[in-house]
Amino acid sequence: MEDGAAFNGLSCSWPTTLHTMASRGIILLTGGAGFIGSHIAVEVAAAGWTPVLLDNFCTSERSVVDRLGELMGMPVRCIEADIRHEGAMRAAFGSTAVHAVIHLAGLKAVGESVEKPELYHDNNVRGTEVLLAAMDEVGVRRMVFSSSCTVYGTPQRLPIDESHPLSAINPYGQTKLDIEHMLDRWVDAGPDRHVCSLRYFNPVGAHASALIGESPLGIPNNLMPFVVMVARGELPELGVFGGDWPTHDGTGVRDYIHVVDLARGHVAALDQLDSMHHERINLGTGMGASVLDVVHAFERMNGAKVPYAIRPRRAGDAAAAYADPSLAERRLGWRAQLGLDDMVRDAWSFAQRQG
Ligand code: NAD
Ligand code: UD1
Repeated sequence: MEDGAAFNGLSCSWPTTLHTMASRGIILLTGGAGFIGSHIAVEVAAAGWTPVLLDNFCTSERSVVDRLGELMGMPVRCIEADIRHEGAMRAAFGSTAVHAVIHLAGLKAVGESVEKPELYHDNNVRGTEVLLAAMDEVGVRRMVFSSSCTVYGTPQRLPIDESHPLSAINPYGQTKLDIEHMLDRWVDAGPDRHVCSLRYFNPVGAHASALIGESPLGIPNNLMPFVVMVARGELPELGVFGGDWPTHDGTGVRDYIHVVDLARGHVAALDQLDSMHHERINLGTGMGASVLDVVHAFERMNGAKVPYAIRPRRAGDAAAAYADPSLAERRLGWRAQLGLDDMVRDAWSFAQRQG
């Protein structure tokens, strides 16, 4: 891609006017048009920052930018660029004072990462290198990074706290570990650098407005989008991966967290960032819910039917994984407020609004 081609009609010259409107400064969200980034943009703006999105729309829709504008009641700036493109990144940072970067841009499909490990390394790891180099050129020294509970590999003890051993069980997980290590080196390489790697558990749900939510391309990988497609009649039934796990009902247990709670965790991290060198913090509820707990909550809250059939276990799955979220409470003053009923209600409202 040529330097100039990195920008399209969505992207404007740098929003200096917005900068003056905002009392606290600009937060650049790489991957900001995606599921989680779009929700963070709303919360960041509500906290008095000016969010600016940077995205190449490889797994998200351009219409998100307009929907965010409708939700916030003001235009939202988005730079169309690939984080791997040095010229585009230099241009993006070139003419303004970004307070901090929230770095979400990345590919996240575990199965695809096994088929295309080089693509995942190039997009996620090399992309982060290019991003950090562009930040260095203009002296941007703060980052909140989207890490994942996948860095803990197969759980060896529950709940999972941040001292749990680390391992990569697929190329996607390897990219998250590689980036966390890269960020260790980055904070040591210059003065006054601050990073918070937030290790998300299982983000689900949607904004209460139903204007933004999760819209995976094609057949989804994760449970909640699958449940939604079955409830809409787009798929005949949910395959439940294993009914004989050592859990309360035999199905897999995970720590589902409402995406709005997750987004607020980023605002809390921004507020504490200057007191950090590089800290890793779990974002989860601490509560495990099984596949059937999710199905039953979805049916009860939404009056919808989710036919399911028990299938063989999925390779690489664990019986249960849930967070010890106490460090987030101590360090960020943050804890999840929303429960499973809120998550399934909001996921369904968003799906219905999509028509
Ligand atoms: P998403 O696919 O909805 O959003 C990712 C965004 O990044 C998309 O808008 C995509 O177009 C953009 N992007 C990808 N590569 C890019 C590149 N090279 N340059 C510019 N933009 C690029 O996914 P999400 O669920 O919002 O995830 C956001 C981040 O959170 C990812 O880094 C993901 O690994 C991490 N994460 C997600 C989950 C989850 O379950 N959703 C769990 C743990 C961690
Ligand atoms: C997956 C990823 C993990 C990533 C996490 C959050 C794999 C192997 N792991 O984990 O790297 O960090 O998402 O993005 O993909 N389930 C079904 N039927 C389905 C789909 C899921 O029964 O059609 C079950 C799973 O077996 C599991 C639970 O639902 O027990 C949640 O699955 P999923 O949403 O894929 O999340 P994780 O397994 O936590």
